[in-house]
Amino acid sequence: MDTQVIGHRTPRVDGENKLTGRADYTTDWYVDNMLHGYPVPASISHGTLEALDIEPVLAMPGVVAVYHHGNFPKLYRSPSSQAHQDQVSEVRLPFEDERIHYDGQYVAMVVAERYEQARAAAHALQARYHQDSGARPGLLETREDGRPLESEGGLRGDPDSAYERAPVKIDHVYAIAPESHMQMEMHATLAQWRDDRLIVHESTQGVVYQHKAMARIFDMPEEKVEVISHYIGSGFGNKLFMWPHAVATAAAARELGRPVKTVLSRQQDMASGGNRPASRQRLRLAADEQGRLLSMRHDSTTETSFVHPYVDSVGTPTLNLYACDNAAISHHLLEVNHGTPCPMRAPGEVSGIYALECAMDELAIALDMDPLELRRRNYSYEDPTKGLPWSSKHLDTCYDSAARRFGWERRDPRVGSMREGDEILGWGMATSSWTAGRQPCMARVELRADGTVMAACGTQDIGTGTYTVVAQTVAELTGVPLDRVEVRLGESSLPAGPLSGGSMATATTLPAVAAAVRAAIDELKEVATDEDAPFTGADPDGLAFRDGALADEQGKRVAFDDLLSGQKLGSVSGDGQAAPGDEQNQYSFRSFGAHFVEVRWDPGISRLCVSRVVSSIDIGRAVNPVTARNQVEGAIVMGIGMGLFEKLDYDPRDARLINNNYSDYIVTSHADMPEIDVELLDNPDYAFNEFGARGVGEIGLTGIAPAIANAIYHATGKRIRDLPITIEKLM
Ligand code: MOS
Repeated sequence: MDTQVIGHRTPRVDGENKLTGRADYTTDWYVDNMLHGYPVPASISHGTLEALDIEPVLAMPGVVAVYHHGNFPKLYRSPSSQAHQDQVSEVRLPFEDERIHYDGQYVAMVVAERYEQARAAAHALQARYHQDSGARPGLLETREDGRPLESEGGLRGDPDSAYERAPVKIDHVYAIAPESHMQMEMHATLAQWRDDRLIVHESTQGVVYQHKAMARIFDMPEEKVEVISHYIGSGFGNKLFMWPHAVATAAAARELGRPVKTVLSRQQDMASGGNRPASRQRLRLAADEQGRLLSMRHDSTTETSFVHPYVDSVGTPTLNLYACDNAAISHHLLEVNHGTPCPMRAPGEVSGIYALECAMDELAIALDMDPLELRRRNYSYEDPTKGLPWSSKHLDTCYDSAARRFGWERRDPRVGSMREGDEILGWGMATSSWTAGRQPCMARVELRADGTVMAACGTQDIGTGTYTVVAQTVAELTGVPLDRVEVRLGESSLPAGPLSGGSMATATTLPAVAAAVRAAIDELKEVATDEDAPFTGADPDGLAFRDGALADEQGKRVAFDDLLSGQKLGSVSGDGQAAPGDEQNQYSFRSFGAHFVEVRWDPGISRLCVSRVVSSIDIGRAVNPVTARNQVEGAIVMGIGMGLFEKLDYDPRDARLINNNYSDYIVTSHADMPEIDVELLDNPDYAFNEFGARGVGEIGLTGIAPAIANAIYHATGKRIRDLPITIEKLM
């Protein structure tokens, strides 16, 4: 498809709103008569709330109410079904009973006239607990393995006997510490009841999902609930599904008959707003002397809380990243007394690919083979799990291009052999991959008499550029310039759109918007061929819409705004919908890429840094190369955090979270930033959708941490199998 706007660098259409402060984030909303909610977190991780000393707090300035198990209204659990889109992050309702399952679980919520008053009262509220013995610490602090999950298993061939017979094999256990999403904007809710309608502003990755979950929990007809999220200060999976603070806030607003806004503190967000669960993963790989994989086995365990069975599916990549006839995965789930985990950017796969890609590096060393060559020898030309060809796989080009730009052929494989002054260079690489998904989606488009075009969809822009790619789609298909396209997102009352998650929003939304554009143009053609219209009597199919105007074959041309004005119409509109179809039975859709990483290790002063990252990523068509590249660059920065710094520290004695703040939970800072060279291949995947876009967002994170771990081994000779690789582990 020859395009004018799609696939071209386009500045964010919402950039000016963000720079000028006009963008209305949830936290920015102030409405008349509004109260402030502030949750009170438990200070034990396992036990019972015995008493709350409410009276002194009620007497504090501005305090209006304190909600807790004793006075919280009766609500209903959401069925939390993915299929019915009423999924929540924690099935247990706030204040359901007096059991405490994790440090930070809300035991009460104070509501006051001002934020500072609510916070002061929440801090002053005295609670008495009975702490039970035997709090279960995190997965990595215990030897327990939890319960097997048959649904997460997979098998082909006979990996065990192939492993036994193979000449070269490795068998290692890898571990990843729990991580925090550390998104900029805290979880926040503003709830307002107008008569019997509930209006919720929420920083969410899924207005449609929260809308349905709220309706279930408050037992209301869906049409009486609206969820709004115009701007979101990012969310990396922790804002996909609703958390208890939103339920508590909406209930308090109903009880008090006044709007209530709750903005979590960073400490609360980190303890009770989601995390990437710890994983322990055993990898057994076997190959013949030429490096062809004979057997793969990936046995994993992840943790979850006692109040929600979240499963991080880490084994999947081992079944589809490489060609191997004998492969098996198994999974266990262990409940621990920590806050509930949830998806976090490339959930499951980023953890699984870490273990697999470190194991591949260890296998290459056992074979005395270049690690890139090992990957090439096990290239999968079809999806081994589905027996379907990949729709469009160019991983070989990614390997070639990134290796060339990085200078991989100059790598001396001997450990510690590449020196520059006091520093030892380490070079490592890894494959990256993420599935390409689509959901059903609806959209509406209006052509208006004022010369603007409006596109609306009930998805949202979490900062990744959804406003911009929707505007590009409208501009592409109408020829109307971007500054005359209005995009409305982030309202559950708009035609139902997807979660901003799983890297699916672009691939899902754009085809529905395109269908709506076409429907609106068809409507315009009907109007144009009416009596007393510019093209009266003409065959609508003979008219074409180009550059914002209808034209017939004789060259007569009428701009759509003139046409509408002339017919005394304010607008015409079209509804569109799109969904995955039969192509899903013909192809397997997945994106691939390659990361090459250089680390520098100065053993004299124990200084380690990532100095260079070179990546080639194939996401089909990048609808907007600016925002797409930005996603991959951000993911690389996040991957450096995963590799070197990030770890939620829970006290193993009482399972309480220690580093619940930005000074003790270390993320990648500017001083840690490497040179980053990202290439996006441009191979439109038209089997997937008409724009050839598979989406971007998560793939960049997969493969970074193992490429770093492999580079560190190359520099230091130390194989650190548990993330993060802090310098203490190298000393
Ligand atoms: Mo991503 S974990 O789907 O936000």
